[in-house]
Amino acid sequence: MLIRDAEAADWDAVWPFFRTIVAAGETYTYPRDLDEPTARGMWMLAPPGRTVVAVDETTGDVLGSAKMNPNHMGGASHIASASFMVDPAHAGRGVGRALGGSMLAWARAEGYRAVQFNAVVESNTRAVALWKSLGFEVMTTLPEGFLHPTLGYVGLHIMYRRL
Ligand SMILES: CC(C)(COP(=O)(O)OP(=O)(O)OC[C@H]1O[C@@H](n2cnc3c(N)ncnc32)[C@H](O)[C@@H]1OP(=O)(O)O)[C@@H](O)C(=O)NCCC(=O)NCCS
Repeated sequence: MLIRDAEAADWDAVWPFFRTIVAAGETYTYPRDLDEPTARGMWMLAPPGRTVVAVDETTGDVLGSAKMNPNHMGGASHIASASFMVDPAHAGRGVGRALGGSMLAWARAEGYRAVQFNAVVESNTRAVALWKSLGFEVMTTLPEGFLHPTLGYVGLHIMYRRL
């Protein structure tokens, strides 16, 4: 698997699984009917942000994508944030872990002092376990912070890792 900067042409491969993940409404605080141009604008970042794709080097398939960016501006711009989407057809193969590791390397190289995830849905146990294994802690959980389509109101974690 190769992780590289996303090019504009990669969006066509990202959008189908991005749309599936967002439409499910289980893991992101995006509107479930997010339209394509808005999604592209939110995901395909210019510096100081960065968007990457994970590509199967044999088939050329895009397996997943991540975006990373300063979480705040001004006096809090030393903290990065990031978001991840792995094509469900390729889940559980280490793509999310590789994207997470790549993001941490980027954040360190860019001089960030920490990474903050603002909204990790408590019931997204796969993501929570992955981020904990990469050194993130749950700093707080917003009670009933997220309305899950089948579970109802669940907690929303703020997760944090110093670099
Ligand atoms: C969360 C997500 C990024 C994980 O990506 P992935 O490529 O499936 O994950 P990986 O294969 O790298 O597995 C990473 C860890 O997830 C956990 N995991 C994997 N499969 C799991 C399963 N079936 N059940 C629970 N946890 C699981 C394990 O902790 C695993 O660690 P391991 O490498 O020690 O086995 C991906 O599922 C995804 O895009 N989900 C939808 C969007 C999303 O939730 N984004 C993150 C928002 S915070």
